Amino acid sequence: MVCCCITEKFQLIYGRSPAWAARAPGRIEFIGNHTDYNGGPVIGAAINRYVSVAIAPRADGVWNFYSDFTGHLATLPAHCISRQEGELSWLNYPLGVLDAFPAFGFKRPEGFDLLTMSDLPAGSGLSSSAALELATALAFLSLTGQSIERARLVQLARHAENQFVGVPCGILDQGVSAFGKVNHLVWIDCLLQTFATVPLPADVHFWIFNTHTKHALIDGMYAERHHECMQAAHALDVPLLVHATPAQVEAARPGLSASQFKRARHVVEEIARVEQCIDALRGGDLVTTGRLLTASHRSSQCLFENSTTELDFLVDQLTRNPSVYGARLSGGGFGGSVMALTQSSFKESDALRIQQSYEVQFDVEPEGFHLLTANGAAPI
Ligand code: GLA
Repeated sequence: MVCCCITEKFQLIYGRSPAWAARAPGRIEFIGNHTDYNGGPVIGAAINRYVSVAIAPRADGVWNFYSDFTGHLATLPAHCISRQEGELSWLNYPLGVLDAFPAFGFKRPEGFDLLTMSDLPAGSGLSSSAALELATALAFLSLTGQSIERARLVQLARHAENQFVGVPCGILDQGVSAFGKVNHLVWIDCLLQTFATVPLPADVHFWIFNTHTKHALIDGMYAERHHECMQAAHALDVPLLVHATPAQVEAARPGLSASQFKRARHVVEEIARVEQCIDALRGGDLVTTGRLLTASHRSSQCLFENSTTELDFLVDQLTRNPSVYGARLSGGGFGGSVMALTQSSFKESDALRIQQSYEVQFDVEPEGFHLLTANGAAPI
């Protein structure tokens, strides 16, 4: 059954009911900053904020896309796939998915009306792009009577992002959005491309603080970090940094540029932190878990250099609060959000105080919200 809110909106836009709908959650990156495309492990959680997509078939060879966010309808001739710019750039995610379909053995729909809605803030580092890719992929597949395994769905969505959108991301965002589970974290081995869930200890809470800042060159800076990591791996004579130890990175220092050394050191130490975090979570040791989260942030700040003054300010404020286990930037960096893992004694009033001091400092109102974990992408 298609959920009523998106059905009503679809009726309003297209004057008929959708045939199918799907939704995919956003994610927080729990720990493992820029470990995914280096073949390392990463832990995330799907969150109760979603991108939803509704769709109905058309017989006239037209692909219609309507975004509730921009309030615009874009009409393309079916199978006419080209990169879009400006206001239409959001189309690159569904178009990237459609572009990937033949390579994954799927046929594309011949015509459709599509509507997308979201309560996931775009540009906040919570993976609205991956959620859009997954939700549209599921909608296109339902429309054409095809099905897909979750791990393959993750690969297809990542392919769309790497090949069509042009961001050399790993599988964290798509993997967590696909494999999310309520009250669980998603643990991904990015080398083997395997997905597992780890129960969250009882009575822990996630808070997100959105800085409302996003570096204009974010995609370029992400690609630059990716490139530096690949160069460091090459200098270390390993296929990916996951194959190097901290001792090897230290020994290779004279042959690395200063930034390559810092990036590589961050990645190998972050991989170790993810592994320690799994052990701490299994043992219910939230104090150690929190310490690892904050250590991850400090490494992003000083070695990977993908933090910002705004993100650091929030982490500093949060970690002074005794109800906070740990806090860190979540996702690619260069803006976006900070995630805090807290006890239940961390209240709305604590969040408000942090938001107020942020506003005094930066003259921007940050958004702070309490999040729940969610299940992965699925038809609705
Ligand atoms: C973004 C990318 C992910 C991952 C993180 C950093 O969210 O899409 O693949 O690299 O940044 O860990």
